[in-house]
Amino acid sequence: MPDNGGNSSSKDFHLDVPAAGEGFFVKGASGCDWGMKNRLADMFNSKSGNTVMLAFDHGYIMGPTSGLERLDITVPPLIPYVDVLMSTRGAFRTCISAAVKKPICLRVNYDSSVLFDDMSNGGGIACDIRNAVRMNASCLAVQTFIGSPGEKNSLELLARTVDAGTDWGIPTLGVVAVGKQMERTEQFFLLATRMLAENGAQVVKSYYCEGFERVTSACPVPIVIAGGKKLPEEEALAMAWRAISEGAKGVDMGRNIFQARHPAAMARAVGKVVHEGFTAKEAHEYYVDILNTSGE
Ligand code: 5RP
Repeated sequence: MPDNGGNSSSKDFHLDVPAAGEGFFVKGASGCDWGMKNRLADMFNSKSGNTVMLAFDHGYIMGPTSGLERLDITVPPLIPYVDVLMSTRGAFRTCISAAVKKPICLRVNYDSSVLFDDMSNGGGIACDIRNAVRMNASCLAVQTFIGSPGEKNSLELLARTVDAGTDWGIPTLGVVAVGKQMERTEQFFLLATRMLAENGAQVVKSYYCEGFERVTSACPVPIVIAGGKKLPEEEALAMAWRAISEGAKGVDMGRNIFQARHPAAMARAVGKVVHEGFTAKEAHEYYVDILNTSGE
């Protein structure tokens, strides 16, 4: 029995203060259970509401992409400047220290290689939920091919991943792939992002497009943008700035970081846009300052 002696008889139940924890800062996650929210809170910064994810999963279909010939050399120096690491289990196991303190977003599907004309024809699960838990994944990433021959198969993979992730409190990142025959239009991204969210993805990865504010508005979960092919640094920062200004909750960027002249400086500059409201111009000046002081 707890000792009741010394307890004050007057109690303040704070009737005028709403209970904590009813709302949640990650869009669409209020109804998720505690473990899933906790993992989302590891990924998204509670102050800015946003995230900088570093994508280095390109090898899963492309082999050694330029800049990622040696994951063990390219990736570790960037880790301090990003919020989440996104890649395959083979990349993590072989090239990233298990002592890393950043949450990982694990690509759990495979697709056909770039040797095929249309990689959307078929993919499957490359890492099941037991192994994703074993990897301590904070998020599961699945590629989807809306409007392409692989649509049905990839939606099935997404749904089964969301089911498994929900059982274990692990959110799923639905990745919008743009098939060869698809155009990067507002209409396409409105459809694809909404479909992924309604099929259960807790976070959606998309490309930036004109009319992006309508895409983010109509998608009930956070959208993070892919960087796509390498752009001049100032343009990549401008794209990130436009995306954040128009409702994106972060970036999941690869080539525009690790193929930059100074990848760590670029990761830091992207973080300034995503978390601190820097304009593209301010972030580019910040990037150039680091370049100049580093002598590279
Ligand atoms: C492809 C992916 C990749 O991780 C992502 O697109 C690569 O990032 P980037 O385009 O910025 O190099 O999810 O489906």
